[in-house]
Amino acid sequence: MTPQAYLSELFSLDGRVAVVTGGSSGIGRAIARALACAGASVLVVARRESELAATVGELAAHGCQAAWVSADLSTREGLRAAADEAAEAFGEPDILVNCAGVNLRPTMGELDEDVWDTTMAVNLEAPYLLGQRFGPGMAERGFGRIIHITSQQAHRAFVQSGAYGVSKGALESLARSQAEAWSPYGVTCNTLVPGFVMTPLNARLSSDPEKIAALAARTMVGRNGLAEDFAGAAVFLASRASAYVTGQSIFVDGGFSVH
Ligand SMILES: NC(=O)c1ccc[n+]([C@@H]2O[C@H](COP(=O)([O-])OP(=O)(O)OC[C@H]3O[C@@H](n4cnc5c(N)ncnc54)[C@H](OP(=O)(O)O)[C@@H]3O)[C@@H](O)[C@H]2O)c1
Repeated sequence: MTPQAYLSELFSLDGRVAVVTGGSSGIGRAIARALACAGASVLVVARRESELAATVGELAAHGCQAAWVSADLSTREGLRAAADEAAEAFGEPDILVNCAGVNLRPTMGELDEDVWDTTMAVNLEAPYLLGQRFGPGMAERGFGRIIHITSQQAHRAFVQSGAYGVSKGALESLARSQAEAWSPYGVTCNTLVPGFVMTPLNARLSSDPEKIAALAARTMVGRNGLAEDFAGAAVFLASRASAYVTGQSIFVDGGFSVH
């Protein structure tokens, strides 16, 4: 067997269909690119059409199969319509990546019901509902991969974690519940846990050089995360290679969480 054939057997996503929420920016965009370059047909979901079109244009320029659906995942109607539309482009997905997220962090005293509801809707309920929509089909077909993007705040409070940390903690529990339900049928469910990653999500913090340097110093690698750092772990979790990895939280954080 050639090295190429061996690697392909383990990691190729040829013939797979992936839905990546939040696939138009930051970590989600890097994951969409990675899955597409590994052979999957990728459907990205987010709200802003210009960002979605730019992402799909970039993937198409690499010779990849990609399409987009614009939807607001904070509403159940928007989510249901998006899921149906998403499945029309390339068929029912084999891989679901829940990366869309909001990071609203008022102080605990100022955390009102709107912030709570929006945070839970996008960060937790959307992954749950998309899992309910696509998970049973994956189980019936005997193969599936569900990957949630959580946060170190699923494990500890960090700079006014508020509702955000709660939503990410629950998302890790959701992954374990889904793993328990569907792993016997070939559907693994895991989470990728970022530390601090330089993306538009935390533009405010990223624009403060002192804070960035202090955060980088807390990692073991000596730098903050980049969206591209998630490519390898995402392809691994989406591929045949990870068939015996399920219900896990995999930290991609340069050692931040253990330093
Ligand atoms: N960056 C970090 O340091 C960090 C750390 C820990 C965890 N994370 C997690 O990683 C994930 C990706 O974050 P990122 O840093 O890559 O942020 P980002 O660049 O801001 O990307 C967020 C994505 O989510 C989409 N989105 C937000 N609200 C949405 C809604 N209501 N409906 C549909 N799509 C929506 C955005 O597109 P539209 O705005 O166009 O809808 C965008 O594509 C998030 O779940 C975040 O919590 C990030």
